[in-house]
Amino acid sequence: MAKVYVTCRVFPEELERLRAAGHTVEMRDAPGLISREKLLEKVSEAEALICLLSDRIDVEVIAEAGKLRIVANLAVGYENIDLATAQAAGIVVTNTPGVLTETTADLTFALLLAAARRIVEADAFARSGAFYGWELLQPHLGLEVYGKTLGVVGMGRIGTAVARRGRLGFGMDILYHDPHQNKPAEAELKAKYVSFETLLSESDFVSIHTPLTAQTRHLFDRQAFLRMKKTAILVNVARGPVVDEEALVWAVETGQIAGAGIDVYEEEPEIHPGLLKLQEHVVLVPHIGSATVETRHAMVRIAVDNVLAVLAGEAPLNPV
Ligand code: GLV
Repeated sequence: MAKVYVTCRVFPEELERLRAAGHTVEMRDAPGLISREKLLEKVSEAEALICLLSDRIDVEVIAEAGKLRIVANLAVGYENIDLATAQAAGIVVTNTPGVLTETTADLTFALLLAAARRIVEADAFARSGAFYGWELLQPHLGLEVYGKTLGVVGMGRIGTAVARRGRLGFGMDILYHDPHQNKPAEAELKAKYVSFETLLSESDFVSIHTPLTAQTRHLFDRQAFLRMKKTAILVNVARGPVVDEEALVWAVETGQIAGAGIDVYEEEPEIHPGLLKLQEHVVLVPHIGSATVETRHAMVRIAVDNVLAVLAGEAPLNPV
């Protein structure tokens, strides 16, 4: 039977089905990310690899992976994997779509609301003992969310789930931009398909849900921020490099836009020092879009389903 290597800690009970099918499973049971050396060593023996989006599966790793049949990435994004090289080597690559849609949309809205209503600043203020009582012009006056315009960049599964929250929960008008028109979202949410430029200039909140590609890298640069409303808030739960962080810091510091809710960073795990200094209407979280207990269980389950299928000689459920 096959050797399965898991590069990170996962819920051990989710791996039982692999053992029950007769496979040998080794999970790297230590906090943090796997070292490059360890990855190169372990991949040479494995027939299946369950890995993270932080593990770089590139030419060098694939060259070592003489027996590997499947890489099951514990993420919906897979830009950490050199897909062409993997496929040329006959290795199946799978991801975890679907199960993290709603939870990522929830986090998007949490960031949008937290940045608009200055929740993190207000929390620090309340804890500091500085609260002196209610007054009309309180120190943390925020920006209204209800009834505003939400611009969704990338109207796929997650973008649509965010738009749904905006439309149905917060009475928002929805604008979207995507390489493909999404007619069902238009019918369900009265979403309007607009150019990127129109979305930028007309939205009060701009939320990013595109994959990282050559076309989307630094889509949000100084030019883009100059087109946005000065009262607008940017939310990014997609991929860090879609935003030029230097330009974002500049845009918030100079008041080109009002603020940002950010989950993903250009050089993870580094966070641009300029971003760390921004407080007003800025909320930063450490790539936790899909981080709920339920969703993380579901992501491991999907990876295991894909590994079981491929090792049994069947088609994967979620090939990319
Ligand atoms: C997380 O960022 C993912 O791609 O699943």
